Amino acid sequence: MTTTPERPAPATVPDGPIPFFRPQLPPLEDYVAELERIWSTKMLSNFADYSRRLEALATGYLGANHVLTVVSGDIGLVLALRALEIPRGAPAFVSTFTFNSTINAALWAGLRPVLVDIDPATFCLSADALSEAVQRHPEPGVVLATHTFGNPCDHAALRSVADASGSRLVYDAAHAYGSLRDGVHAGALGDAEVFSLSGTKLVTSAEGGLVSTPHDEVADRFRYLRGYGFQNDYNSRYVGLNGKISELHCALGVLTLAGVEQAVARRHEILAGYRSVLGDRVGWQAVRADDRSTYKDISLVLGDRRDAVESALAAAGVATKRYFLPLHHQDAYQRWAGDPLPAADEVYRTTLCVPAYNDLTDEQVLAIADVVAAALDAD
Ligand SMILES: Cc1ncc(COP(=O)(O)O)c(C=O)c1O
Repeated sequence: MTTTPERPAPATVPDGPIPFFRPQLPPLEDYVAELERIWSTKMLSNFADYSRRLEALATGYLGANHVLTVVSGDIGLVLALRALEIPRGAPAFVSTFTFNSTINAALWAGLRPVLVDIDPATFCLSADALSEAVQRHPEPGVVLATHTFGNPCDHAALRSVADASGSRLVYDAAHAYGSLRDGVHAGALGDAEVFSLSGTKLVTSAEGGLVSTPHDEVADRFRYLRGYGFQNDYNSRYVGLNGKISELHCALGVLTLAGVEQAVARRHEILAGYRSVLGDRVGWQAVRADDRSTYKDISLVLGDRRDAVESALAAAGVATKRYFLPLHHQDAYQRWAGDPLPAADEVYRTTLCVPAYNDLTDEQVLAIADVVAAALDAD
């Protein structure tokens, strides 16, 4: 009988397969109790009690001047740009390493996107690259920067470039409900900031968003814009759209927003678990000691081993994501592509996001990390 050489058993992760993400939902009976209230009032929408409660909760938590609900982060971005009255055709300086909504919002708002590279350590818009882009496009417009995976942007540097060019500063804070820059909440930094409450976020209303702004007149216009352009008199003051979030969604949001600190703390525990196994063998998105990221996503920097690690995790039943395909490589944005944006390319080529959500167990985190470590060791 011939013998075959011993092969190591393929690594397994307990209770797999492991999805990339699972939302953290409140106990069903808590949500049903809120639904019963909605059934008794019969108020399903139109910024009623639950929308107001969500806004009050978020305003208090973020320390922002105004926070307004909206149907999604995506529509919130479009309406925030319109509420700021950025002139049509003005430049919108957008990080190329972000979700499509960021550039789509600029385009729907009639702006001219200028794609800008990221800082390869933080994955956020590079202030140096922004400075160069602003010199090439000196007209006032808007800087539209993403707090990538919840890592707060270099606010002081971006603000100084934006101010020098007479541009507004808007943050795509879709991942950043719970992030802190020098102790200040994302949401209390920009001329407007837009959070997503979609099902993949730490706090969720299933679908939905929040827009914050320090400016009274911007908040006022936003209220019109999200309600077709009018308030109560059916006389449109602006060209709006239906940006209304339902009361059913807001009720879920009220319940999940209350758990934000616990959700952020759990992400930090999960990160610590991954780090305890992988340490310096992989790179990590750089977050300053004075800041706090929500770690909406945990990204491993794997260099040339990225594809091997991705395959090993897939074989072990662990779902991963390559976030983000830079905008300058996507078909719809070729008209605004052209300049080389090497930092974003390199981050996209070498990184992989691994599962991170509340009920991923410590045991599963360590087992996932073991699969990564084994793939790094393999020939
Ligand atoms: C960076 C970023 N911006 C905007 C959005 C859009 O938010 P929503 O799904 O609430 O429309 C997302 C969605 O995940 C996102 O990741």
